[in-house]
Amino acid sequence: MTRGSKDIIKLKSLTKRYGVGDAEYFALKDLNLTIKSGEFVVIMGPSGCGKTTLLNMIGLLDRPTSGEYHFDGASVEKISRRRQARLRSSKIGFIFQSFNLIPGMPVIDNVALPLVYCGFGKTRRHKIASKILGRFHLNEREFYMPHQLSGGQQQRVAIARSLVNSPSVILADEPTGNLDSRSSHIVMEELKEIHSQGNTIIMVTHNANLTTYATRVINMLDGTIFTDLKTVVDKESPVPKAETVVKKSRRRTKERGKKSEKKTGTKVKKAKIEVKED
Ligand SMILES: Nc1ncnc2c1ncn2[C@@H]1O[C@H](COP(=O)(O)OP(=O)(O)OP(=O)(O)O)[C@@H](O)[C@H]1O
Ligand SMILES: [Mg+2]
Repeated sequence: MTRGSKDIIKLKSLTKRYGVGDAEYFALKDLNLTIKSGEFVVIMGPSGCGKTTLLNMIGLLDRPTSGEYHFDGASVEKISRRRQARLRSSKIGFIFQSFNLIPGMPVIDNVALPLVYCGFGKTRRHKIASKILGRFHLNEREFYMPHQLSGGQQQRVAIARSLVNSPSVILADEPTGNLDSRSSHIVMEELKEIHSQGNTIIMVTHNANLTTYATRVINMLDGTIFTDLKTVVDKESPVPKAETVVKKSRRRTKERGKKSEKKTGTKVKKAKIEVKED
């Protein structure tokens, strides 16, 4: 990430409520978050703490109950659903744990799918998809069906699909959750490469080892941000060496943060803690 990068995502007091009355549940509570262009953010936290809900909001797949969302400087609430869809298809790429490839569709059409929304003809779509599949060494599998591929290959197809429209932000929800360690490594190396080209990556994971790829590690708890740490990666070593704390959302989280770090066993070390009230 370069110094002075612009704010690509800015969330202010974001709240997401599911259900009403007795069934009311706040999946996100008054959440504030700013992500700069070029960051590689890893989001962790216990099951049910709101990680996927947050990614869905950022990816414009769902709307918050209240709060503000600015994407690349523009207020998302103020634009029509149609323009939101256009923004999503041109600027945001998605990678999911379960790959989400369309089963009866050859690999090349799966990868080319986001380009349909850009209005490109089939020949052009295939040409672009084939080029990107080549980058993932999958040209020989272009006309395979997804079920004929291994899990790792399916996830690489999904990554190719997420990149086909050259988005600037990649959202990945447990992209290695269904993969063995070798396939996970390959997928993470691909994400690292995509990040090194200047893209912003926001990845949810339960695997603390993957924080080594991050420039920033956010821990969520009960629908809000619990700790938020920036990492400084030493080029000689793949493991972050030192870091400065960006923000902690609540004073009371200071002690609990230490416990959570021990629990996850992350190699990330805290250099300094600065507590700010929002
Ligand atoms: N459509 C929905 N209707 C009602 N409640 C929902 C809905 N989607 C999510 N929730 C609730 O919101 C909370 C946060 O869900 P979310 O999927 O964001 O968790 P998560 O942190 O991604 O968990 P996991 O690590 O298990 O994927 C959960 O308690 C969940 O039950
Ligand atoms: Mg989830």
